[in-house]
Amino acid sequence: MSVFPDSPITCKAPLVTVIGAGNVGRTLTQRIAEKNLADVALIDVVEGLPQGIALDLIEAQGIELHDSQIIGTNNYADTAGSEIVVITAGFPRKPGMSRDDLIQCNAKIVAEVTKKAFEYSPNAIFVVITNPLDVMTYVVWKMTGLPPQRIMGMAGVLDSSRLQTFIAMELGVCTADVSTLVLGGHGDLMLPLLRYCTVRGVPITELMDEATIERLVERTRNGGAEIVKLLQTGGAYFAPASSASLMVESILRNQSRLLPAAAYLNGEYGLHDIFLGVPCRLGCRGVEHILEVKLTDEERKALHVSAKAVRSNVDVALVGL
Ligand code: LAC
Repeated sequence: MSVFPDSPITCKAPLVTVIGAGNVGRTLTQRIAEKNLADVALIDVVEGLPQGIALDLIEAQGIELHDSQIIGTNNYADTAGSEIVVITAGFPRKPGMSRDDLIQCNAKIVAEVTKKAFEYSPNAIFVVITNPLDVMTYVVWKMTGLPPQRIMGMAGVLDSSRLQTFIAMELGVCTADVSTLVLGGHGDLMLPLLRYCTVRGVPITELMDEATIERLVERTRNGGAEIVKLLQTGGAYFAPASSASLMVESILRNQSRLLPAAAYLNGEYGLHDIFLGVPCRLGCRGVEHILEVKLTDEERKALHVSAKAVRSNVDVALVGL
């Protein structure tokens, strides 16, 4: 018996469900909880795994001083009423694999978990992390039939953050002073918009020669593969989790931050019926607005090449479902 029969906390915190208790899922859970953004339901098919991670994280609560509840579960009923569902479930890449090598196996997993989560949280906003990202985001949309503004993929924030880091390292400046924008698919055809990359407003084209910039862009394109090669088992997770938590924060706090995300295009940039990385304002309704920045003919062409590759992969993914 407690001397405090009624909890003084009467308002319920928003709930975010994280599907998949692998490295990305568990790190994202930690970020969301420690930033006090929401309660988190971490769900996985492996029995004991999400429960163990949740318990471990909650045992640090008194030290990290956050108020978030974290539950680990194998039962989708525990995710009911989530404001946001983040999907990380699926196979990661092995060294030498491209993100596209995962299409069919991950499409099945993503379709299945989406259906289950949607049943319990029909008003959620879905954020997709599983690769190949742009394709899986389309699969989630198809499975839910939700307005596409409620579905988005996390990649542009990560790719932009990688380029931001590499520019800061190269120039020896503070990372926070570097601003970058990477659009397009999350893969070899991503499109860093160099004209919009600056150090405190100064275009990077005035600070580095072309060869140096090209080297940093190439490293960004291979950013995920570089880490897969170093780790040998699994891929990056700290930066992907940070990127997703930034999106979750912008949605939950209705910040309307302008972030690059895989969003549904219905004529924007001359593209239709596809999820692709573009600058979006993210708020409580999901993708509140897509910003159409001016592109040169060359950039526009590159974006359309990226879209074409994503579209043919969507066709492959949908065949098996
Ligand atoms: C990466 C994965 C998240 O780029 O695609 O590291």
